[in-house]
Amino acid sequence: MLLQHCTWQEVESRLERSTGIILPIGSTEQHGPNGLIGTDALCAEVIAREAGEAADALVAPTIAVGMAQHHMDFAGSMTLRPTTLIAVLRDTVMSLARHGFTRFYFINGHGGNVATVNAAFSEIYAESSLDPEQGNRPVPRCKLRNWYDATAVRRLSKEMFGASEGSHATPSEVSVTQYAFPEAIKQAEMSPRIAPYGPILDARDYRRRFPDGRIGSDPSLANPEAGGKLVEASARELADDYRSFLTEA
Ligand code: NI
Repeated sequence: MLLQHCTWQEVESRLERSTGIILPIGSTEQHGPNGLIGTDALCAEVIAREAGEAADALVAPTIAVGMAQHHMDFAGSMTLRPTTLIAVLRDTVMSLARHGFTRFYFINGHGGNVATVNAAFSEIYAESSLDPEQGNRPVPRCKLRNWYDATAVRRLSKEMFGASEGSHATPSEVSVTQYAFPEAIKQAEMSPRIAPYGPILDARDYRRRFPDGRIGSDPSLANPEAGGKLVEASARELADDYRSFLTEA
């Protein structure tokens, strides 16, 4: 159930049976010649909705702009500085905590968010650690999972795309958007067929190393059928993981 589709009374009564919530987080950034700018936010959102259905969980609005400074040399990319994203995440969690939510399960679609999201969790925990009035108030408990790191997803990606998977603008993530948004499928030639690998520094350096935006991947292999399998596998595994997160001590 989407938080945005609930009334406040519905949220209040759901809180009586569960204080957990799923929060999709992604990015709005270039994804190579055939990947959508919204790939990371769209993948996280689609998979979070499916996982939410499977686990009977509330799903918060997607945090669609992430930490993507290294993509800023490509048109359409947007970024929050790490410090801004930390502030957004802290206020998001504290808003929901005020109503009684205690378990915050982030489903992430962008590797570049990971360090900043973990720093935000430390900020959130520091807030209660430094508060002498904390008393018995529950500490918001946060967990981060990347949809593409689910065991079943890794296995499927390897089976379907092997060495062409790469690490940015991957055939797996492009397949997920093709499955969810067939009206937005793009075709493009990849040259070279498999993109190079290398380190990530700032935006200009990124564009020099990876001229069309891809890293190590051949997303021309993407297809909607593969996307459907990946969504199903990821959502199932994350729904199970979310349920155990709710009950862990
Ligand atoms: Ni991506």
